[in-house]
Amino acid sequence: MNRIKTLTLAVAATALAASSLTAQARDFRLGLITPPQHMWSTEAEAFAETLHERSGGEHSVSVFPAQQLGNEAQMVQQLQTGALDMAFLTIAEISNRIPDFGALYAPYLVDGVDHAARLLRSDTAAELLELMPAEVGLVGVGYGMVGMRQVLSRDPIVSMDDMRGQRLRITPFEPIRDFYTATGAAPAPLPLLEVYDALANGQVDAIDMDFDSILILKFYEQADNLLISNHMMFPMVGVVSGRVWRELSAEDRELIETTMAEHLENVLSGFQEMDAAQEEEIRALDLNIVEADAEFFSEAIAEWESTWAEKAPMLEALREEAERLRQ
Ligand code: BEZ
Repeated sequence: MNRIKTLTLAVAATALAASSLTAQARDFRLGLITPPQHMWSTEAEAFAETLHERSGGEHSVSVFPAQQLGNEAQMVQQLQTGALDMAFLTIAEISNRIPDFGALYAPYLVDGVDHAARLLRSDTAAELLELMPAEVGLVGVGYGMVGMRQVLSRDPIVSMDDMRGQRLRITPFEPIRDFYTATGAAPAPLPLLEVYDALANGQVDAIDMDFDSILILKFYEQADNLLISNHMMFPMVGVVSGRVWRELSAEDRELIETTMAEHLENVLSGFQEMDAAQEEEIRALDLNIVEADAEFFSEAIAEWESTWAEKAPMLEALREEAERLRQ
C-alpha cells in the first residue's frame, strides 16, 4: 500500500474513533518556561480560565510556568508521550527538530514587532505549523511571540570587531548559534531563568535578549551596554500533544483550538502594544546605547544565509511573504 493510501486510512480511522468519543471532563496540564509574571504565563492562565468557562466547568487547565516540568526539550518529550497535554514553546526547540522553522530566525527577515506579527498571522507561517504533527507528533495551534532580539553586554559593542570572543548567552537552538558564531562571538546556550546569575557571576559577557525580558528580569542591573539591533524576531507556538489530540472529541478539539488561538493572538497583539513603551523605558535607564542594522552584521548574515537557505527550504517562501507584508 502506498504512503498516501496508508495515511488516508489512518486519518479516516482516527476521525471515526474521534467522532465516537463523547466529551470527557479533563484536567489538562500546560507547561512553559517563562516566569509567572511574563505575558506568556499570564495569557496561559487566561486561556485556562476561558476554557474552563466555555466548557461549562467541565475542563480545567493547570499551568506550570518557570520550567517546573523541565526545559523545552524535556517538555517536547513529555508531549510526545502524552505525559504533558499542552505547552507554549519557543520556536527554538521546534527548530532544533524541524529545521524549516529555523527560517523564522533569518536575520532582519522582519523590520520590527508589527511586521513580525503580520508574518506570524500569514498563511505561509501557518504552513509551517502543518509540519508539526508528522515531524514531532505535536499539533501547532498558532503563534505568539516576544519582542525583537537585542544584545545587552558588560563591555560596549560598537562594531562587529567587538563581538569577537564575547561569551554571549543564547537560547539553546541552532539558527541563533550559527548567527553568533558567524559574528565571531562564542555562543553560550543558557535557559532564560539562568541568565541573571550567569551575567552576575561573569559566566557570560553578553546576552541575546528582548526588551521585555531585560525589564522584567532586571538584566540591566548586571550589564550596562545595549546594542539595539532588532536582528531577529522570537516567535512562540501553542501546542497540544498529538496523542492527547487523538483522544479528544471533535467538539473538544474545536473548543481548545479556537480558545488557545484567541489567547495566542492576545500575546501577539500584547507585544505589539508594549514594544514602543518598553523601548522608551529602556532608553530612560542608565545604559550606553548603540544602534545596529543589517549593515552592521552583513558578513555574519551572509554566512548564516549560506547555511540556512539549504537547511530551511521554507526560507524563500517566508521571505517573499515578509516582503509582501512590509509597510
Ligand atoms: C529567551 O530564551 O531568551 C526567552 C525565552 C522565552 C521568552 C523570552 C525570552
